[in-house]
Parts: sequence; C-alpha cells; structure tokens
Amino acid sequence: MCGIVGYVGARQAQDVVVEGLRRLEYRGYDSAGIALVHDGRVASAKRAGKLVNLEKEVAGNPLPTSSTGIGHTRWATHGAPNDANAHPHLGRERRVAVVHNGIIENFAQLRGELESVGHEMSSETDTEVTAHLLELEVQAGHDLTVAMQRVCCRLEGAFTLVAVDGADPDRVVAARRNSPLVVGLGEGENFLGSDVAAFIEHTREAMELDQDQVVTITREGVEVSGFDGSPAQGRRYHVDWDLTAAEKDGHDWFMRKEIYEQPRAVADSLLGRRTPEGLLQLDEMRLSDDELREVDKIIIIAAGTSFYAGMVAKYAIEHWTRIPVEVELASEFRYRDPILTQSTLVVAISQSGETADTLQAIRHARVQRAKVLAICNTNGSTIPRESDGVIYTHAGPEIGVASTKGYLTQLVACYLLALYLAQVKGTRFGDEIGEVMDQLDQMPAHIETVLANDQQVYDLARDHFDSSSVLFLGRHAGYPVALEGALKLKELAYIHAEGFAAGELKHGPIALIEDGLPVLCIVPPRGRDQLHAKMLSGIQEVRARGARTICLAEEGDESITPYADELIRLPQVPVLLQPLVAVVPLQLFACELATAMGHDVDQPRNLAKSVTVE
Ligand code: M6R
Repeated sequence: MCGIVGYVGARQAQDVVVEGLRRLEYRGYDSAGIALVHDGRVASAKRAGKLVNLEKEVAGNPLPTSSTGIGHTRWATHGAPNDANAHPHLGRERRVAVVHNGIIENFAQLRGELESVGHEMSSETDTEVTAHLLELEVQAGHDLTVAMQRVCCRLEGAFTLVAVDGADPDRVVAARRNSPLVVGLGEGENFLGSDVAAFIEHTREAMELDQDQVVTITREGVEVSGFDGSPAQGRRYHVDWDLTAAEKDGHDWFMRKEIYEQPRAVADSLLGRRTPEGLLQLDEMRLSDDELREVDKIIIIAAGTSFYAGMVAKYAIEHWTRIPVEVELASEFRYRDPILTQSTLVVAISQSGETADTLQAIRHARVQRAKVLAICNTNGSTIPRESDGVIYTHAGPEIGVASTKGYLTQLVACYLLALYLAQVKGTRFGDEIGEVMDQLDQMPAHIETVLANDQQVYDLARDHFDSSSVLFLGRHAGYPVALEGALKLKELAYIHAEGFAAGELKHGPIALIEDGLPVLCIVPPRGRDQLHAKMLSGIQEVRARGARTICLAEEGDESITPYADELIRLPQVPVLLQPLVAVVPLQLFACELATAMGHDVDQPRNLAKSVTVE
C-alpha cells in the first residue's frame, strides 16, 4: 500500500528512484511522484495514474541532475487519486519534500493548527501537514533527523515518512511506525524502500528497523534512532533472492510467471524440513516443543487469500492433531473479544507480513498472552518480527497483486505446522507423518502436470469472455479452493464470482442458477467417505437447472463424465492435499480471462499488494 523509495549516492538519483518505483508499483498505482535535491532546493514532479505518466512528465520537463532523491507510488487513502494529492508533498517554502505511506489519524487537528497560523494546503492529503511541520522544524535550526524525530512525536496513526531538505543535500531521513520500511546498504550509497525490491538491483544487503524509529542515510552510512533521539541499531540481513526474481522473465504478467513458478516454490518451501532421521524440523519456529505440547486451541487469523489458506489448514490440523481450530478474518478478530489463554496458539498467515489487519490482530493476541506463530513469505517484515515464532514460506518475491505462489506455499507451511504439531503431541505415528511428507514431496511434479494442461484452461477462459457471473463449488478442503477461485476472478476480471460449499447450495444460492451460468466444481478425490458422492449430487442439481458445469476431477474418475460440460483433469492426490493442485487451473482461468478482457492483471483496479491500513 504505497511504495516508497529514497536514495543518496553517486548515481543519478532520478534513475535509481524511478527504477525503484517501477519495482514497487504493485504496492499502489493511483499516482507517482519524485523529489530531487539540487542546488539548495527541491525539484519535484508528480502525476496521477501509473508510473508511466510520471515518466512522460519528466521526459518532457526534465528534472535537474541530483544524487539525492525520494519517490512514491500511491494507493489513495486521503483524497482522490489526482495530481494535487500525489506525493511528494512540500512545505510552505518548498524546502522540504515528504513521501508517506499510511494514515495520520490526527492530521485534521494538525492541519487546523497550521492553517490558523497562515499555512495553506494544496492537497486533501494527511501527508501534506508533515511536510509543513518538518519544514518549520528545519527552519527553526534543527537538522532533518531531529526535525523528523520531533514531528513523529506529534503524529498519531501508522506511517512511513521519507523526507529530503533542499538545504541539506546529502541526507535522506525516514521514519516508521506500523508501516514498512527497509534500508538497502551499498558502497558509497544507501537506499530506502518499502521493501527490498526497491533496491535489489543495487544491493542485497539490507537492514530492518523497529517500530518508532528514525533512520538517516548518507553516502557514508546509516544511523538509526528512536523518536526520542536515543541511539538505536537496525538488524542487518542478506536478501536471498536477486534481480532475476523480480523480473517477468518473458511472461506478459508477473502473475503468470508466478503461477508457473509454483512447482519450484512448493519444492523450496519443503526443503530442509526433515532431519536425516526423518523427523520434521521447522527452523525458525522459536516456540519450544514443550510450549507446543501445551497448546489446546488454535486460532488462525489472516485476510483474503491467506484466510483461505487458513481454512484449509483447519481441516489438516484438526484431522492430524485433534486440536480445535478456529479461522477468523483478521479484520474482525479483536472486535469480538476472542477467548485467548496462554495455551492458545494464534497462527497469523500473511504473504507480505505487513497487512495491518493481521498485525493489529496479533498484537491483540499477544497482549492477551496467547502465543503467536507467523506464516510469512517476507523476511524482515513486521508480522514475523512481532511473533513468537515463524515459518517462512520461501516462495521468493510475489509481485502480482493476486496471490498465487504465496498461497500454495502458505498451504505447504500449514501442512508442515499440522504435521509438526502431530509429531510433538504424538497424535500421529512417525511413519504416518513420513508418508504425508512423501506425498508433499510429490506435489511439485503434480503441479507441473496441471500446468502442462494450461491450453485447455486458457481456451475455456477465453470462451467465457462475456460471462457476467461465475460460481465455484467445493466441499471440505475444496470449499476454500472454491472461495479462492472466486476471489481471483473478482479481483482480476471484475466480474461477479462466488464460491459456495456445495452442500449449502440448496439452502439458497441455487436460486442463482440459470441457463448457461458457468459453475466450476472442485470434485474431491474418490475415497472412503461420502464426499465425492455428495459433490456429484450437487453437480447434478445445478446442471438440472441449466448450469454449465466445468468440473475439476481426478484422473480416472469417470463417474463425473456424464455431468461435466467441461472436464479438467487433476492428478490423484489425497483429499487434504488436493487444494495444492485444484487451485492452479482456477488461477490460470482468472489470469487468462482478465487478459482477454484487456485488464491489467498485475495491477487490478482499486487494489494494492500489501494492505498496510486498517
Ligand atoms: O500479504 P497478506 O497475505 O497478508 O495479504 C492478504 C490479502 O490482502 C491478499 O491475500 C489479497 O487477498 C490478495 N490480493 C489476493 O489475491
């Protein structure tokens, strides 16, 4: 939610900043802007719309050369996405420029104070007050670092701020509270970014910061302090992926590239999880086996796609460990006064590790003394840092706004957690756990098989170019897959899509069925229970009422053939693991349909990759 870049060094700051914004554009694309320090003053440019509009603007009206700059790509919160509200915002004398991610909750009061002493604002944003306040501080004789500390002490809400002062050309100063910011450490140059993608082209050495810290970067170094001015330290780390991971690699969309990366991502997320003796190990779990043995209830909290991963996790954890599991939307969690004790394990699932709803939920859980385990893809992000333990998903950077490999690797992490708890609590024998691990090890090859059938799914998607509504049906672990398939279609193709538990259909939603309505049905594997037979009945019910059934069923399942207008084959896998293969055609379907409709798949309207406001 908003991408932020800062740079000081020997290169052309404009090039570094614009390139950084390009890599962060997935975080927000309502407008973009840049500010450079030149000859004792700030030069800036900003434009509504995607980054390309800013690039056209600076190509027509070049900015001066500079080696110090900041930039911003916006997901609008306060004020419409127009030129005036685009960042950077400048102080009254245009000496200080600021970019901001987050929401400053007391901005109305601060704005009132400034206006009462003659300041005029040129935007509707909450950000502009910070530019005015910072400028007043530097005019009063404080350097930009101290100015930032003093201003931050007056701000309420969540924010990352990055600022430059025209009269102080060799430093960029930033601050964070509940909003992402990382430092890139170079040789004779340093960087700031909302995430490491901003500077991965230049350095893989990074530093993470704590809450309520101010960081100053110069060519020579990096200094960290608290808002109160006390010296502090960031934590250095090495980024284990490189620029190639942040490129499209010949695909039209990052999303499509990330779909095809899933076999590798799933394999990576399984790497190193077994000791030579065959026991499961989770490196950064940090919670001891004794602590885990005490767990008598699990609450999973997450948002969007991560929430659907949590729903699958419930089936697996309860089945393998018999520990009761609740799954809750992060945005609802703390408002219902959840019952938490020291023996409750809260599992927070987040690809980005920055989702504000999830972050606030884990804070609430920790205050109530519950233990918190994060399942996360982003090293150095806030949610794992504020948790008692973490399982990293190792998917590599996910740039497409629609989560794909992030979701599949979250599923793997959930299975691993479930099996680990079963091992620690002794609810499953070692050979049973080993057998599931062997099945998981086969999943990359199964996902390859599904991907090899991409043309069938693409043709099908293009056939649905003019559909205005699509339904998805599933049962058991297939139900969250149905919900995820519908979410993908909503966010990318902007058409009405809904996922239902197949058994629930007859209690109301079946009224939606009309002639020709496409219904994608995730058919569970044939097994001992009645899942498969019940699903078959559901499919017959909708088909009898005119639906066009598109069935995803395992290889060899011929019982489905008479009821499927279209049949997509899935590999034979156990029912609990089926989401890992069943969701893939749904991702391909949404990606291709949105492409055929002419939508920007990587940057769907109104969305941003990481939602850092509540
Ligand atoms: O980074 P997180 O996993 O916490 O993000 C949660 C949701 O915002 C995210 O999954 C969202 O629903 C995706 N756009 C879905 O594709």
